[in-house]
Amino acid sequence: MKHVGAPMDRVDGPQKVCGTARYTAEFTLPKMAHALMVQSTVASGRILRIDANKSERMPGVIAVLTHRNAMKLPKGGKAAVEPPHGRVLSLLQDDRVHYNGQPVAVVVAESMEQARAAAAALRIDYDPAPAALSFEEAKPRAYSPEKVVDAEADTRRGDSLKALSNAPCRMNLTYTTPMEHHNPMEPHATLAAWDGKKLTLYDSTQYVAGVQKTVAKTFGIPTDDVRVINQFVGGGFGGKGSAWSHVLLAAMASRQTGRPVRLVLDRPQLFGPVGGRPQTEQTLALGCDRGGKLLAVEHHATSNTSTVEDWTESSAVVTRMLYDCANVTTTHRLVQLNVGTPTFQRAPGEATGSFALESAIDELSYEAGIDPLQMRLVNYAEKDLQNGLPYSSKALRECYRVGAERFGWSRRNPRPRSMQQGRWLVGMGMGTATRPAKRSPAAARVRLMPDGQAIVQSSTEDLGTGTYTVMTQIAADALGYAPSRVRFELGDTRFPEAPIAAGSMTVESVGSAVHAACDKARRRVIQLACDDPLSPLSGASLEDVIVEDGWLRHRDGTRREQVAAVIARAPERMIEMQGDSEAGDETKRYSMHSFGAVFVEVHIDPELGIIRVPRTVGAYGVGKVMNEKTAHSQLMGGIVWGISQALLEESVLDQRYGRFVNANLSEYHVPTNADIGDIDILFVPEQDSQVNGLGAKGLGEVGMTGVAGAIANAVYHATGRRIRELPITLDKLL
Ligand code: MOS
Repeated sequence: MKHVGAPMDRVDGPQKVCGTARYTAEFTLPKMAHALMVQSTVASGRILRIDANKSERMPGVIAVLTHRNAMKLPKGGKAAVEPPHGRVLSLLQDDRVHYNGQPVAVVVAESMEQARAAAAALRIDYDPAPAALSFEEAKPRAYSPEKVVDAEADTRRGDSLKALSNAPCRMNLTYTTPMEHHNPMEPHATLAAWDGKKLTLYDSTQYVAGVQKTVAKTFGIPTDDVRVINQFVGGGFGGKGSAWSHVLLAAMASRQTGRPVRLVLDRPQLFGPVGGRPQTEQTLALGCDRGGKLLAVEHHATSNTSTVEDWTESSAVVTRMLYDCANVTTTHRLVQLNVGTPTFQRAPGEATGSFALESAIDELSYEAGIDPLQMRLVNYAEKDLQNGLPYSSKALRECYRVGAERFGWSRRNPRPRSMQQGRWLVGMGMGTATRPAKRSPAAARVRLMPDGQAIVQSSTEDLGTGTYTVMTQIAADALGYAPSRVRFELGDTRFPEAPIAAGSMTVESVGSAVHAACDKARRRVIQLACDDPLSPLSGASLEDVIVEDGWLRHRDGTRREQVAAVIARAPERMIEMQGDSEAGDETKRYSMHSFGAVFVEVHIDPELGIIRVPRTVGAYGVGKVMNEKTAHSQLMGGIVWGISQALLEESVLDQRYGRFVNANLSEYHVPTNADIGDIDILFVPEQDSQVNGLGAKGLGEVGMTGVAGAIANAVYHATGRRIRELPITLDKLL
């Protein structure tokens, strides 16, 4: 591997910097109309009356779609639900309102401004019903979900109750995390255009094939009649993993008006109808001996869902495998609130769960009088105790070592509130990062052209993660081409199908398929040359020919020919190969996870409670790193979000009306550059020959895990105050 691993610049960098990368809301079509989604203003009940007369007569207005005149969908629009990616949608099929902010009408006009004005003039009367808006009040009605993503809702090994009662050190602790909402720079957007029975959608999504299937099923039309295109995404983070109501509404509006329709969500509309992270309450009961060895862990997680669908934040799943403990009980419970259905949000499960677990392990370490890092080492899991499987690779011990050394953990005074710099209290905390390494079936194709170019295609996405770049590197190595001769294309359902670009699995899934396709194509080229009397390599044996920088060379150095020349003589003047990839039985033989160790320093103003995070060190074992630069950015982005989760982010639900009161970027806080100090990322080399052919374990999400816990632990170390409710805002320290 010559190009894989190198810190290659993003191949799409120039397009992004020059503004030529086109995002969904930037596409226009002839005769395109603009749609605006109108949302309910009550949290529960029925629509009594909609008066659209005034709106319909306003300048430029083409249509006002409501449940009275919207096209009737097969099965009431419910046909598409395929959890976990499919969602129960609001498609104007009835008069029911399930949450404040639910789509209840769509205004279509010649311009966005005209649509906005007409939407403001729309009069909707409701018959409101009592709404469940308080997590606290809903808790007595908590129930068990059927599944937690693809795992059991509850697990139990050993006897945690008995082990707890015998433990010399034990604690019972409750942590909470608030609702949060995805705030990608690019909001959701859809442009829908029908051509007879065929529908084309430009859609900002993490999963063109998923949108295609959901839309086709909802309309009851063949999948092949729907084409979805999306070449650039300005961030998704799980929020764009499902096709939400607006996608279908844009297609319905286009169908009913006979015009291409563009529907763009504005920032406040990201708070509700397109998912978010649910609120969690997590109780951990832990017991250890005097040496810090865990004797029992119980992790009970409750999170909210909507009233129309079960979606569970898998917070306690991480506790099943992260530490060595014989007696472990985990449970998940749901409470229903009248809010939009939650969904995957970066590191779903681990982001919230590792905050609670890593805080609790830290608390127990003080109780036992053991260094927090030592506590983790004493409880290091040599295998996955949940399923009894060995890890395919696990350099976590080395991550702890090199991370601690780089950070200077040994200079930490273990006593809380003992370190100071000027007037600032100094705290040092750490946490463990982890996230499963998975892959889903994926396909890719390569076309080797007679001009020496290779075009590689798969329907995956680049969420800003570096997919374009990394796939180019993988293809270049597998083909024996220079990366400049490879063009990777994505985001079109006409390309071979890729899975959802989520779950940190794009490299493992699509990368493996790209590698397979390109490997086949290279073999084919060699075969053609060896079989061709016109080739200088004619008659050579296949093993004696290598491909390098677009040249076929005999190993003995005597003969060579350009790949392009071989292709120019090939039957179709082209070589096309498809590659497929899917997980095999390695998933039954190994437990596969990325791991890392995070160390943070916080400075806290003792009088004002202001919290700064001047530096973070993260050391990660993520298998083979495909591109050191984009990988570094992924992990750094994860740490930034971890800091954000710990200190800033919180969607505040108005308990009277069920609207989010801070649905904008001035009051929903995300970090600015000034909020972020030094972030030092270390890669701990790992050879993983089991996880997949590339040896890559995925690093999109692991960077976010462990960080919030590390910060909470550092805050405790700085102040002696334990904050168990995120975000840790200064008022909680006063
Ligand atoms: Mo993600 S939450 O894997 O897009």
